[in-house]
Amino acid sequence: MNKNISAVSALEVHDLTVAFDRKPVLWNIDLEIPQGKLVGIIGPNGAGKSTLIKSVMGLLPLSSGYCKIFDEKIDDVRHRISYVPQRESVDWDFPVSVLDVVMMGRYGKLGLLKRPRKADLDVAMDCLRKVGMESFANRQIAQLSGGQQQRTFLARALAQQADIYFMDEPFAGVDAATEKAIINLLRTMTAANKTVIVVHHDLQSVSSYFDWVILLNTRLVANGPTTSTFTQDKLQETYGGKLTLLSDVGDLIRRENFPNREEKVL
Ligand SMILES: Nc1ncnc2c1ncn2[C@@H]1O[C@H](COP(=O)(O)OP(=O)(O)O)[C@@H](O)[C@H]1O
Ligand SMILES: [Mg+2]
Repeated sequence: MNKNISAVSALEVHDLTVAFDRKPVLWNIDLEIPQGKLVGIIGPNGAGKSTLIKSVMGLLPLSSGYCKIFDEKIDDVRHRISYVPQRESVDWDFPVSVLDVVMMGRYGKLGLLKRPRKADLDVAMDCLRKVGMESFANRQIAQLSGGQQQRTFLARALAQQADIYFMDEPFAGVDAATEKAIINLLRTMTAANKTVIVVHHDLQSVSSYFDWVILLNTRLVANGPTTSTFTQDKLQETYGGKLTLLSDVGDLIRRENFPNREEKVL
């Protein structure tokens, strides 16, 4: 039982196959992710990126295989996991306030039948502050912009105080300022040894955003540190012919050290 805790992988996926109507959308995936990384899941539309996250979270039936988080079964570590679904998959007309949504992040910590305490409210407000949304606490979520909705989602995830976060396209439809704010926040999280796994489809920003990438197209094309894994060959293999639609592949793989590693939150 003398496991070196920090040496335990954040995520392990073994022999994972997932099918809809007998058609596999993930095929025999094996991968391992160390702790404390900012990880991008990259691949074309329909590659199975969302399905991979949902499968790991135990939200879909698996045809074969299993996943572990921190070397435990998912159900045994749920309190350490946070999931941010795609923004479009949520009913934003639901009549709740921004603060209500963030407080939902506290329910897992509260246990059944316990009422939120002042301390929970303080955590929720602190999380809203971190995403620059404290002045919107009482706003109905139907009255938010796309960027504000995403920030609210992120605040809810932060309020869970998890150790591993799965986020499905957190930058989709958000403004540039929000994107920068989110990426800076994610960096401060990984600096505190949280693991953050993000579905992402903008190839231009992969090299500057992520420490680690998972290249996926039904099968796993590659999994590893961005510098050695996000290569022209692997990208070609992931996107196939679709990549020729993009202007210049070489341009996507900028190898400079990006200077924007600010520690500042927002
Ligand atoms: N609930 C579902 N029922 C049937 N097919 C699905 C379902 N969810 C996803 N799919 C199919 O599985 C494939 C992978 O989907 P998805 O994981 O959402 O891809 P990505 O997130 O990479 O765009 C797609 O072909 C999609 O149409
Ligand atoms: Mg998706």
